[in-house]
Order: sequence, then C-alpha cells, then structure tokens
Amino acid sequence: MCGIVGYIGWREAAPLLLKGLKRLEYRGYDSAGIALLNEGLLVMKQKGSVSGLEVATEGLSAEMKAAAVGIGHTRWATHGEPSDINAHPHQNTVGDIAVIHNGIIENYSVLKRELISQGYKFLSDTDSEVLVHLIDRIWKSDPSLDLESATRTALRHVDGAYGICVISSREPDKIIVARKGSPLVIGIGKGEYFIASDAAPIVEHTNKVVYLSDGELAVVKKDGYVVKTIENVEQEKIITELDFSIEKIEKGGFEHFMLKEIFEQPAVMHDVMRGRVRLDEGRICLGGIEDYLDRLKHAKRIVICACGTSWHAALIGEYLIEEFARIPVEVDYASEFRYRNPIVGVDDVVILISQSGETADTLAALRTAKEKGALVMGICNVVGSTIARETLCGMYTHAGPEVGVASTKAFSAQVIMLYMLALALSRGRTLSQDEITLNLRELSRLPEKATRILELDSQIKDIAERFKDARNALYLGRGYNFPVALEGALKLKEISYIHAEGYPAAEMKHGPIALIDKDMPVIFIATRDSTYAKILSNIEEVRSRKGRVIAIANEGDQEVSRLAEHVIYIPQSSGPITPLLTVIPLQLLAYHIARLRGCNVDRPRNLAKSVTVE
Ligand code: G6P
Repeated sequence: MCGIVGYIGWREAAPLLLKGLKRLEYRGYDSAGIALLNEGLLVMKQKGSVSGLEVATEGLSAEMKAAAVGIGHTRWATHGEPSDINAHPHQNTVGDIAVIHNGIIENYSVLKRELISQGYKFLSDTDSEVLVHLIDRIWKSDPSLDLESATRTALRHVDGAYGICVISSREPDKIIVARKGSPLVIGIGKGEYFIASDAAPIVEHTNKVVYLSDGELAVVKKDGYVVKTIENVEQEKIITELDFSIEKIEKGGFEHFMLKEIFEQPAVMHDVMRGRVRLDEGRICLGGIEDYLDRLKHAKRIVICACGTSWHAALIGEYLIEEFARIPVEVDYASEFRYRNPIVGVDDVVILISQSGETADTLAALRTAKEKGALVMGICNVVGSTIARETLCGMYTHAGPEVGVASTKAFSAQVIMLYMLALALSRGRTLSQDEITLNLRELSRLPEKATRILELDSQIKDIAERFKDARNALYLGRGYNFPVALEGALKLKEISYIHAEGYPAAEMKHGPIALIDKDMPVIFIATRDSTYAKILSNIEEVRSRKGRVIAIANEGDQEVSRLAEHVIYIPQSSGPITPLLTVIPLQLLAYHIARLRGCNVDRPRNLAKSVTVE
C-alpha cells in the first residue's frame, strides 16, 4: 500500500525523504515522488523505484537541496494506472500547494465533476488529486483562511479513507497532516519532526512518536506541533516510545509477512467490498464491468483460467456463479487451457484471475481466449499489470501488496470478488431481491467473523506443535469447502515441505483411505451444510483406521468434538460464505507448522511470488 514520509526541521529534507521512502518500499509500490519547500515549492515524481527518483534529484538546484521542509510518497495504484502523472504529490494549478494521500476518496467522482465545472483542470486519473483542488478552491474563496483551516474544511467534504500531508509555499513553515482510516505517525526529534505512514522511516531518527487517531489533524512546525480534531478542538496526545527494530516494523510487528497478511484479511475484506457492496440499495456495484454486465449475464458459458491459489479461488467462483446465476462455468488451469486448443467462441466469457497480473500461463490463456473472440475479463490485484491492461474489462481486488510467496489475503479478496460477481449476474434474473439482500448482509458480516477466527491463533499454534513432524497430511472438504481443502494442502506443502493432498471428502474411499494410519493427520472441513452428515461418516472412517483428525466446525457443534482429536470452531455462516472463513485456520495452521520446522516462511525454496516464465 502507499507510503507517506514528511520532514520539517533544520537538515536537508530531500535525502531524508528518499531514505524514508526506501524504508517503506517493503509495502510495495509502483511510483514515488517528493515535494520540497524553500523559497518556492518543487515537486518531483515518477513511475518506478525510489532509487530512480533519487537519481533524478541529483540535479536539484542549490536552493532546493537546502530545503528543510518536504513530503514524500510511494504509490500503489488504485485509481489510475502507475504513471508519472498519477504519482504523488499532486499540486494545484498555480503550483503553490502539494498534497500526498494514502487511502481512497470514495466520493471523488462527484467532487471532481463539481471542481471541473468550476474550471479546475485535472492532470491525473487519481482520486487523490481532488483534495488539492478542493483545498485550493476553499482557500481562494475566503482569504481569511489559512492552510490549516482550508484543509480542515476540505476534509469535511470528503468521504472515504485518508492519511494526508499538505504543504504550501504560501505558508512554508508547516506541514498539515490528517488521518481517517489510514495511519499516520509523527516522530519527535530535536528541533525537527518526522511524519510517516508507519514508524519504519522514523525509528532511526527518534524513538518518540505520537500516533494520530482517526478524525485528527495536526499542524507540524519545526519548533512544535498541535493536534486537533477535525472539528478544531485541541487534543492532548500521549508520546509513545518505540521499542521496535526496523525489521519488525516493516512487518508491522509480525514475525513474517505471511502472518501479517493473514491478519490483514478482515481489513482487506472491508477494502474489497468498499463502495461495491451497497447494502442500503440492495445491490452490488462493480464499476470495472458495468458496461459489460449484460453481455456477461447472457454468456453461453463462463470459463475461468488461473494458476496456483488463484485457481482455487476460481473453483469457488464456479460453485458461486452456477448456484446464484445459473450460468455454466468451467475452470481450467491456464497452462492447460492455452495448449489444448479449447473450444471457446464469441458467446463465451473468459475470466482470468491473477494476484500479480503477470503470470505467464494466465497471460497466454488470456491471449488465446481473445484470439478466439471471447469476452475477456480480469480479476487482478496489481493495478496496471499486464493482465489488467490486456483484458477488455475487469476488477481490482484492492488487497494491497502481498509480499509472502504463499498467497493468503489475495485469495480471500479474489473469492469475495467472485461472490460479488455472482450476485451481480443474478440480480433481476435468478435471485430475488430478498435473496440478494440476504447475501449482502452475509458479506458485510464477514470481516467481523474473520476477526474472531484470527483470535484462535494460539489454539492453532498448539495444534501445529503436535503435528509439526508429520510427513504427510490429507485435507478433506465438500462443496464450497472442497477448493478450501485444496488450498489448505497447497499452503502446507508450499511453506513447510510436508507432502499434503486435498480431496473432495467423498473421494477418500477411492484411494487416499489406503494411506491412513496412526501417523496421518487428516484435516476435515466439517461445517454444517447439506453434506455435514456425510462428512461425519468420513470422520468415523478415518478414526477407525487410527488417523488423527483435526476438524474445522461451527461453534456449538458437540457432535464433531466427540469424533475429532482437535476441533477449531468458527462462527456459523451461510454455505457460500464458509470458504472465506474455513480457509483462515488452514492458513494459520500451515504458517505455524512451517515456522516450527524452521522453514523460510516468506521465501519458500524453489517458489516465486510471480511466475512470469512458463
Ligand atoms: C505462484 C505463487 C502462488 C500464486 C500463483 C499464481 O505460484 O507462488 O502463490 O497463487 O503463482 O499467481 P497469480 O499472481 O497469477 O495469482
């Protein structure tokens, strides 16, 4: 996700800002920029790395080199592709105000239209640029205002999430910062202050910090700072002492990126659904495919192509779209699809799912489908990636950068996208309004349920302790939880190097049952749905062969606890929602087993995060 740094004090700001941005690189980004204040205001920004930006700053004038006030940003594209223009900081037309922004301005299109009608010219495709023009308009309309009050007034017009820094050559002695939903920290030095979206860029300068809370705005000068609420009421802030190493901060206090990303899932769930799940209107709004929705609804068939974890998400998508929208769905490994001369035509829709948007096989499947005349649609996480660019329409998962090679939060985001797609395809056709509303309600309760599951971390760690020396593992589930069994097994084998297989539970008797003995952990996904009774019989079968059963079951289920050696209880939910919940304990189980075995969790051997070769 985007990163913010700011500096005001007595040292040269540019090198400090660049170093700070480097400290934020771990978050992932596609472009970077800084704004410096001395006599005037200078913005330098470009697509690509912070090092690239650093080279560009070598040509700074002596005056700007001496600037002791500045702000910097690393951007992870959400609205608008990665480009020089879309990079932050954004400036007003006369160029005397600069703004950097983390988060999403949900009502940006309304604000943008309004500002354009008042003569404002937008250079970028970002939601963030509205902020600088809004501040400019408010400031111009009342010369008695200052930068602080103009910013405060502007923020009252804004819906959504933000962490922002604003500077102006009209008031060069301050940085205005404000936060709602996107973190900001102020580091307190001697005659100097540091600002950042997390403590990583600050910790090498000072260990004294003040965390802004949501709805707060601060005016930071080189000799002090004042924190107020957005309603202009001054706040007493507690100074916190950091006791983190840089390494730990980069991982947000987690030991590994994978664990951090597992724990980010409730927030990611919110982000994926934000603006899309409209519970009050009883509908789903999917901007990226709106113009094609009719063609999608009338598709003869939908084919979904993907690799790895994304392929597992696709399988859940098949169940969802067929159940809700009653459109036939086929799921193919992208690598198979591209080489088997598939029968696809103009009446078909081919959906490509890819976290990175760069996987070579998925990209080739996309090109094959396009050649054959199918409507091609993408579901990608990385904005501006090749698959996102080459598909006719699509949707971004907005899960934020995923660093751990084993995909976790991106999977959840993909499944939610497919859930929302299935509902959008069903509306006015196969599902009644009541059924749609029921599903929207289920979706909106999801983050809270996921949070409750994450609270089981220490129980899962204990279970991992008992099974860390296993040599094999079997994962069994049915219906919506069959793909979760595959995903659970994949997670375990990827990072712990224990051989693991996922199967539809009923298939156990056609082979895997031969493997069961006292050393075989069998992980059952045994939530209460139409196949619950059958799963219970499968558990009995494993038990009678002395297999060691770990079950994921619904809270309050006594039956399963009678049969299984360990039960992980998750909140009750409707069938189609369950995979989004049942996968979380399996991610944690794989993580803890791998960690206990001393494996390199974030960088498992032989695997790559993005497979751009065949
Ligand atoms: C690699 C990664 C997996 C990922 C797969 C597909 O194998 O290690 O985590 O699921 O590629 O990647 P994509 O970016 O297309 O989703």
